[in-house]
Amino acid sequence: MTAQIIDGKAIAQSIRTTLKDKVASRKQSGQRVPGLAVILVGSDAASQVYVGSKRRACEEVGFESKSFDLPMDTTEQALLTLINQCNDDPTIDGILVQLPLPEHIEDSKVIECIRPDKDVDGFHPYNIGRLAQRNPVLRSCTPKGIMTLIKSTGISTYGLDAIVVGASNIVGRPMMLELLLAGCTTTTCHRFTQNLETKVRQADLVVVAVGKPGFIPGDWIKPGAIVIDVGINRLEDGRLVGDVEFDVAAKNAAFITPVPGGVGPMTIASLLENTLYAAQEYHD
Ligand code: GUN
Repeated sequence: MTAQIIDGKAIAQSIRTTLKDKVASRKQSGQRVPGLAVILVGSDAASQVYVGSKRRACEEVGFESKSFDLPMDTTEQALLTLINQCNDDPTIDGILVQLPLPEHIEDSKVIECIRPDKDVDGFHPYNIGRLAQRNPVLRSCTPKGIMTLIKSTGISTYGLDAIVVGASNIVGRPMMLELLLAGCTTTTCHRFTQNLETKVRQADLVVVAVGKPGFIPGDWIKPGAIVIDVGINRLEDGRLVGDVEFDVAAKNAAFITPVPGGVGPMTIASLLENTLYAAQEYHD
């Protein structure tokens, strides 16, 4: 078997085109364009790249993007004050604080300060709780984008044995909740997991988000499985690779996401979808 490649770049682009049209018709009917505040603290190189892409994508679909670049030594209180200003600003529909934050700032305090109806990252306990209770509203961007990719395969998720490798708040945990909602039998693996190989070999759907190049050998993939690779790792020779050994995995899988051009573009597309959702459902 040779896997079909799931073209995240193309799917994300078509979502962006649809959003652009929706924003244009909002404008035509005299409605406000959605506004997204993007807050970056410090100068982490990878975060600067991600934030730059998010701001550009926002402008491309016609949203208003408000940029806040704060120095590394910003106090937690100063950040919370800025978030509260954005919470109160009626032109801002979504607030994104790029993670990771500097060590002296507590992530959970920042995430919980964002009003749940402006939490377009879907990280607030309210939004995670809504997903856990099978009634999601604003959904975490990367897992939401992955569900769109899985749907694009045309394979029904009901009854699939799904494994999520990685249990972070950003990807692994909300991913597990999305798959459970979609009718999968879910296993979530992490650093203490035993017999990872046995578990991966049994899975019909494998999502990997650990951030280690080639962490999952391709021959672990069950014939006919769907493989979703969230990792984006830069090798010393400059190449970008995922967490799955792609060439071998692609011989076993039925569907696989490439790196780059798989999950990455979907995270931004979901962020844009969430921002329009917040404007329409909560703020119009
Ligand atoms: N850092 C890595 N991924 C993300 C994301 O989806 N949202 C935010 N805010 N920070 C991140």
